Amino acid sequence: MSQRLLQNQLTELAEKFGTPLYVYHAEKIKEQYEKLTTAFQHTNTVFFYACKALTNINILKYIKSVGANVDCSSINEVKLALHAGFPPERVLYTSNGISFSEIQEAKELGVIINIDSLSNLEKFGQKYGHTYPVGLRLRPNIMAGGNLKISTGHDKSKFGIPVENINEIVSIVERYNICIHDLHIHTGSEIKDVEVFVKGIEVLFDLIPHFKELKFIDLGGGFKVPYQDGDSETNINLLAQKVGELFAAHPEASKLQVWFEPGKFLVSECGYFITQVNVMKETPAAKFVSVDSGFNHLIRPMFYDAYHRIENISNPDGEKKRYSVVGNICETDTFAWDRELSEVREGDYLVFYNAGAYGFEMSSNFNSRYKPAEVLMKDGQAHLIRKRDEFSDLLRNQIEVL
Ligand code: LLP
Repeated sequence: MSQRLLQNQLTELAEKFGTPLYVYHAEKIKEQYEKLTTAFQHTNTVFFYACKALTNINILKYIKSVGANVDCSSINEVKLALHAGFPPERVLYTSNGISFSEIQEAKELGVIINIDSLSNLEKFGQKYGHTYPVGLRLRPNIMAGGNLKISTGHDKSKFGIPVENINEIVSIVERYNICIHDLHIHTGSEIKDVEVFVKGIEVLFDLIPHFKELKFIDLGGGFKVPYQDGDSETNINLLAQKVGELFAAHPEASKLQVWFEPGKFLVSECGYFITQVNVMKETPAAKFVSVDSGFNHLIRPMFYDAYHRIENISNPDGEKKRYSVVGNICETDTFAWDRELSEVREGDYLVFYNAGAYGFEMSSNFNSRYKPAEVLMKDGQAHLIRKRDEFSDLLRNQIEVL
């Protein structure tokens, strides 16, 4: 779609559904999924969508229809995936720090489970022995990812069982005759360097001989997507080539299926977040553009210093000027400092790109503001897939005792 058509479409949607508004293009998700399956067509690979990025039930159903499986980070995500129609064998629950009762619940639901602590592994062995195959979430001690907050595989990270605990792992597995069918790592988010995945594979290859019933190697998610002009994404073709070569060359790994858990790669670029300019404020320090949103709706810029491309779709050909784009909540909620935009006027619509992943999903009702509405564009049709909150939502679940 041309830039002008996109601007017109987003403007129409903002007028029809109001702002702030999240818009997702279904076909872009399919395109991203097909990039992966095409690149990996010669390797035995399966993709589990890391649904923590965006769990709207329609997105889950659409992901299912394009053929991906789903990776979950809580028992409620597991239940949403099942509600969306995924059969349990296509649902993976990669846990972290959860209670054993949640693992039991996941087992009762029949989904695939990755266990991330020695303590839960022991409890699992005591209760289920060899009766239910299970995966191990390991910490590979590799530093990678866009920034420390989204790096999960390094040697100070809470995630996974550290690989140096291999003797303890093996002793628990042998004691209870646990069937370990997959080894998992997830080193972080926004990993551009294919070598990071190669390093992870090498760490796991060293561990393979300890496990006799392995069927899968799960390399997690974290593929980088381009957030800025000129940015590039993880070279998926190169990754597929390296994975193919490494697995084929390894006698014990060549029969294993490779799993990935992409979140951002599938849904980041499909999403647009539309806001409207409430107020312009000129000060000696900056020209502030204050939009009808804040970190209550898109927290990535404030939480991770993440860059989101912003465009003034109401005046795309206007003179370029520099502005600081801020929100309307009672804290410093700067979306972008000193950013070039085409001339902004009160009432204009500003669009944030790459807003599909961890956008709506990390939104809140801070300042008692409503969460945005969500719209899915599919086959040229706009579908409202979540209503904007209304006042009663703010009181829902509160118990008025006074
Ligand atoms: N698998 C596991 C076990 C994960 O913990 C994650 C992300 C993924 C897969 C998917 O990673 P992705 O492909 O989306 O990079 N909220 C942050 C990102 C945190 C990611 C947490 N885990 C952000 O907005 O940048």
